[in-house]
Amino acid sequence: MPPKKAPAQVSPDRASNDRVDVRGPIPGPKGARIVEEDTRLMMTGTKIAPLAVERASGVWVTDVDGNRLLDFTSGVGVLNAGYSHPAVVRAVQEQAEKLMHFAGADYYYESQNRLAERLTELTPGKFEKKVFFTNSGTESVEAAVKIAKWQNSRPIVVGLLGGFHGRSMGALTVTASKPSQRRRFDAFAGGGHHIPPPYCYRCPYHLEYPSCDLYCAKILKELYFETSIPPQDVAAFVAEPVLGEGGYVVPPKGWHQAIKSILDENGILFIDDEVQAGFGRTGKWFAVEHHGIIPDIVTAAKSLGGGLPLGAVVFRKELDFTYPGAHSSTFSGNLVSVAAGLATLDVIERERLLDAATARGAHLIARLKELQQKHPVIGDVRGLGLMIATEFVEADGKRTPAVARRDRILKEALTRGLILLPCGKSSIRYIPPLVVTDEELDQGIDILDQAIRAA
Ligand SMILES: Cc1ncc(COP(=O)(O)O)c(C=O)c1O
Repeated sequence: MPPKKAPAQVSPDRASNDRVDVRGPIPGPKGARIVEEDTRLMMTGTKIAPLAVERASGVWVTDVDGNRLLDFTSGVGVLNAGYSHPAVVRAVQEQAEKLMHFAGADYYYESQNRLAERLTELTPGKFEKKVFFTNSGTESVEAAVKIAKWQNSRPIVVGLLGGFHGRSMGALTVTASKPSQRRRFDAFAGGGHHIPPPYCYRCPYHLEYPSCDLYCAKILKELYFETSIPPQDVAAFVAEPVLGEGGYVVPPKGWHQAIKSILDENGILFIDDEVQAGFGRTGKWFAVEHHGIIPDIVTAAKSLGGGLPLGAVVFRKELDFTYPGAHSSTFSGNLVSVAAGLATLDVIERERLLDAATARGAHLIARLKELQQKHPVIGDVRGLGLMIATEFVEADGKRTPAVARRDRILKEALTRGLILLPCGKSSIRYIPPLVVTDEELDQGIDILDQAIRAA
């Protein structure tokens, strides 16, 4: 279907004539000091570039040395409504002045009910649902896995190789996008099994869609359930609607339906992990809507809180615990985060950011395909809405992942004022805030073009 026409000016509060302004090296002197201190003081985590940000608005970020950069990461998938959206900031300020915390897990907040109600309406499926609020994507997946295992007393969850669902022990049972995530922890992340991903550009079986007849879905029943995974012991199958950290892999048409029918035959729940793809990123509220199935449990976080820590699990009502105490958390549904969440959903609706994601996404995909014609190092351009990636390959005709070159491109882009994130083995993802304009996308593409040449 051709993309619906989005409003010409999607975010009237923002000027669209902003330009990247890099005044010196990144990091500059202030940034370098912060990076040095951080390296000394902070646990080794997942730092990716020496960038220390001071303020941001819309899609524009100013670092501590005064450089003005264009952000195509949305703060790692969080700021779908743009940085410092005035409506979200106002909601946070108003709530913070009234009451910040009174343990929403243990007492009652009207605003939690309002947000829960919105989520039960927005998530796919016209059946009664319940909600648990969390503070992160990991916690949402953790809760979803517990709900599924508790409900059917089955010990196993199955995920996809390449899938990322967080790093706490329960979530780690299904996370499998890099060995570093599981190293030394594998023994504790019990009850997780994985099958190869539906990754057409690098089909694990060297088949072609559609003549493959979706072997990558059928293999769950025809091989795994016949050999290593007893289906009667499987509580849930967990998948991202678009593999995120695993490389922005979009499953082929029909894959979700084929998997879901195998799960239904065996009484296995489907957990749809929308932590990265949710809330308009792909042009729908939830990316699974592109795939035409109804999940039993949806996990969300990142963009829900508009910049504050907020996640949620939304599930069929009948999966609820039958007694108190099986799961809870002190900060579950913190009042300020919930206010930010309600305001963020309002902005997404009012500014028609689903339509904007579809229209801007079509523009960005077209521009990236133009770049692909110029630079054969871009092997694949793929995505849904404004959840887009390019996969970089060597010029050897064998699609060898160009990992070092991808990393150089990221550095060259940052030096020129464009913030990008990697994903998969040799891909770069493009996930600007949904309020981005075509002009801003074009500015980013010009910088990317220069960065690829330089690398
Ligand atoms: C699909 C998915 N699930 C879960 C997580 C974990 O979320 P968090 O980092 O908020 O714990 C992520 C984080 O990138 C994610 O992309």
